[in-house]
Amino acid sequence: MKLIFERSREGLRCATIRPLEVSPYEFEKSYVRKDLDLPEVAEVDLARHYTELSHNAFGVDSGFYPLGSCTMKYNPKLNEEIAALPGFAKVHPLQEPSTVQGNMHLMYDLAVSLMELTGMDGMTLQPCAGAHGEFTGLLLIAAYLEARDGKKCKRNKVLVPDTAHGTNPASAVMAGFEVINVKSNAEKGVDLDDLRAKVGPDTAALMLTNPTTLGLFEKNILEIEKIVHDAGGLLYYDGANLNAIMGVVRPGDMGFDVVHLNLHKTFSTPHGGGGPGSGPVGCKQQLVEFLPDPSIIADKKGRFHFVRPKHSIGKVSTFYGNFSVMVKALAYIKTLGRDGLKESAEHAVLNANYMKARLQDIYTAETNRLCMHEFVIDLQKLKNETGVSAKDVAKAMIDRGMHPPTMYFPHIPGVIDEALMIEPTETENKQTLDEAIAVLRELHDMAYSDPQYLKDAPHNMPISRPDEVLAARQPIVKYKA
Ligand SMILES: Cc1ncc(COP(=O)(O)O)c(C=O)c1O
Repeated sequence: MKLIFERSREGLRCATIRPLEVSPYEFEKSYVRKDLDLPEVAEVDLARHYTELSHNAFGVDSGFYPLGSCTMKYNPKLNEEIAALPGFAKVHPLQEPSTVQGNMHLMYDLAVSLMELTGMDGMTLQPCAGAHGEFTGLLLIAAYLEARDGKKCKRNKVLVPDTAHGTNPASAVMAGFEVINVKSNAEKGVDLDDLRAKVGPDTAALMLTNPTTLGLFEKNILEIEKIVHDAGGLLYYDGANLNAIMGVVRPGDMGFDVVHLNLHKTFSTPHGGGGPGSGPVGCKQQLVEFLPDPSIIADKKGRFHFVRPKHSIGKVSTFYGNFSVMVKALAYIKTLGRDGLKESAEHAVLNANYMKARLQDIYTAETNRLCMHEFVIDLQKLKNETGVSAKDVAKAMIDRGMHPPTMYFPHIPGVIDEALMIEPTETENKQTLDEAIAVLRELHDMAYSDPQYLKDAPHNMPISRPDEVLAARQPIVKYKA
């Protein structure tokens, strides 16, 4: 593929600029740069360049995208169209509330729906990512504990099981807490003895990612809840993967005090790519007065108002958060309804278990337990016997029109070194799952018959194996002739 600079020919232009009807404005000389190295191309070259680029990019709309922990599911295009309606897309956040009552109604309804789905009493829509939600939730917990136990509150530790999502400990540190790691037991759940040994009067909270990063439902949730609450700490639920449980169980009913969701995973906004996200945070009644400013309330006449909660932790983002993501989320919730949301979670779990069951005779599944929305296979045996690694299999999937699963996560040196984490998602049908299973089985056989082919894969892509470490650490994003 040619770079746009290689298509450049002096004098070619894309735009026809009409003759000026006013006298040209002379910029101050110091503002005018002469060293800009820009390509000169015709409109047709530009159109072809970007079309070619788009064909080389892989997205959920191109094919199966089982990237574990990321929920790369298909999002209905209708919801994008709804979010683009001028009444949603063209409002200004500084508009008088009286002129945007419909949009405030939407935010209010979304918050209420999410409270219903999570079993919480309050909800803020302000945070713009899952990790941002974690940070916000932990600030809520800190403010609540200080109000409850006084300024001298010594609860400065957050317990984080080792199967938690990586953002959990990072958010806890950012919110000013010390992180205490809790070990896993043989069933890959929280080791209750280790938890009992570590919980105490300095515990602010325990953050539980459920399903865990291994795609497992934590079996001892009620016991964990009791241990932490008895010690005076709070319970935080990382609900980024709500697509595995929504409509079936609720964090609030399991005793959790705070939860965050990733609307950009479960609720109809694509995850990843740096696009807009939304990580609403729900909380139980005793924390509602600390929620970010503003919250939305409805009066008896059905009018909506922005109010500052009594002991608000303040703002956590500009204005109200990412509104377009909220529009899509509510459209999704209203379209599916209570039964549809539950069905969608059931399909996410069914699809993952179907794939796991049909692969585990050749690929070692990380656990024999039923999984939730994703599962991990360990390719160590395959590597020992053929030299073909998890990465080689993942790369070969690209040639078959599939995005690789998440590689080398989880990575526990000496225990799991060759992991592939597969999340088929609820939006894939049986035919696609069967095709993916067939490809993975074929690649497994090929590892024995022609390992070199896999080690050189992908064969049919514009680039094959870039130096990923170099590309991540020293990216060259600017063209130099
Ligand atoms: C379980 C879990 N928690 C937290 C996050 C962080 O979300 P974000 O990337 O929006 O910050 C993710 C991301 O996918 C996740 O899977």
